[in-house]
Amino acid sequence: MPVPEPSALPPFRRARPAMHDVVVDGTSEPAAPVTRRALRQARDAETPMATPAIFRPPPPPLVYADPHPVPLIPGRERRRSPARHARVRRFARLAPVVAIAAASSLVLGSASIVTAAMAPAPAPIVAESPREVPTFDVTIQAPSTLMGPVLGPTAGSTGTVPAAGAVDDPCSLPAVTDALATGDEAAVIAAMDGPDGFRAKVATGLAPCVRLDDPARTWVVVDKLRPYTPVDYAPAELAAPASVPNVYGEVLRTDAAAALTALADGARAAGAGELGLGSGFRSYATQAANYEGHVATKGLEQADLVSARPGHSEHQSGLAADVVPCADVCGTIDDLAASPQGAWVAEHAWEYGWIVRYEEGATSETGFLPEPWHLRYVGPELARAYHEGGWHSLEAFFGLPEAPHYDG
Ligand code: DAL
Ligand code: ZN
Repeated sequence: MPVPEPSALPPFRRARPAMHDVVVDGTSEPAAPVTRRALRQARDAETPMATPAIFRPPPPPLVYADPHPVPLIPGRERRRSPARHARVRRFARLAPVVAIAAASSLVLGSASIVTAAMAPAPAPIVAESPREVPTFDVTIQAPSTLMGPVLGPTAGSTGTVPAAGAVDDPCSLPAVTDALATGDEAAVIAAMDGPDGFRAKVATGLAPCVRLDDPARTWVVVDKLRPYTPVDYAPAELAAPASVPNVYGEVLRTDAAAALTALADGARAAGAGELGLGSGFRSYATQAANYEGHVATKGLEQADLVSARPGHSEHQSGLAADVVPCADVCGTIDDLAASPQGAWVAEHAWEYGWIVRYEEGATSETGFLPEPWHLRYVGPELARAYHEGGWHSLEAFFGLPEAPHYDG
């Protein structure tokens, strides 16, 4: 793993103990004196324990020298994300088209669609680096094989139907298979008729070679029904985003780190203020400690609405960033929604390849309460398609089953 890049911005100090502080791989050291107030605040935050993050560089000096401080604005109403009903309308519009196309395919004996629908589950992804993981006293489901019939795209998913004469078996196209082999995701998407075509083909089961369970892909979908394989997956390369206030030295997958820098640069340039990284990559062990802390303080039911069980958190992919507003000091995740930074993020994150993963009104699909601070990097092409299509969950975007609860 590369050494985290030093921030080009002046160091920031935190306003209060960070909510994402965690027990890391069985060790823990105090990052700062833990006050009664800190414990009270940590209790309601995404990460309940006040202990330091993984890959943390030497603590930054608690000095702030930002020449353009932006005050936080309390009391601002959180913006409800647009048009949840747009998805329903979209479905209503597309459903007859999809139904007609499906019927035509059957009548014409389109073997490829049937083959795609009935294809056996792909081979499991090979573990990159098996490691020991700690146990803890909360029952966690066993990792299951992904991409089986239950977890694959749902029958009846919406999507555009390939134009007459278009290839209905994109996985047979060399342009697709070659790009998959080289990891050129933009080329895969382009070869499948662009982001909308890519999404529709994946959602309707026409592209089983696009593995939504591959944690190394930016299109991976992790939720309560879709644990990592291997369950303790960790990305190969992590880095701290340059020029982003990062009190705890959090890291992200390198592509996501660069995209967060771009996002923070965009917010600053737009006059929305400074965006900081509150929590980035979290290992299986770190997430286990977080989740266990939530269960201990809230009980299982409430914990499951705010914290993913280990092996089920997007943070483990290195593609999720909890962002916080910073001015003379950095706030917490709970400060984001009412801040200028939060309003800007809700509007513009997609332009930088990020989506707000847990939206208000989508808990029945995602399994989690709204988290306006939790951004998920999916790449610029898919983020644009997600935004322009009016989607509100990756589950719906890719035609996957809703995931309100864990299996078993
Ligand atoms: N708070 C999100 C769901 C997580 O724990 O990954
Ligand atoms: Zn998060």
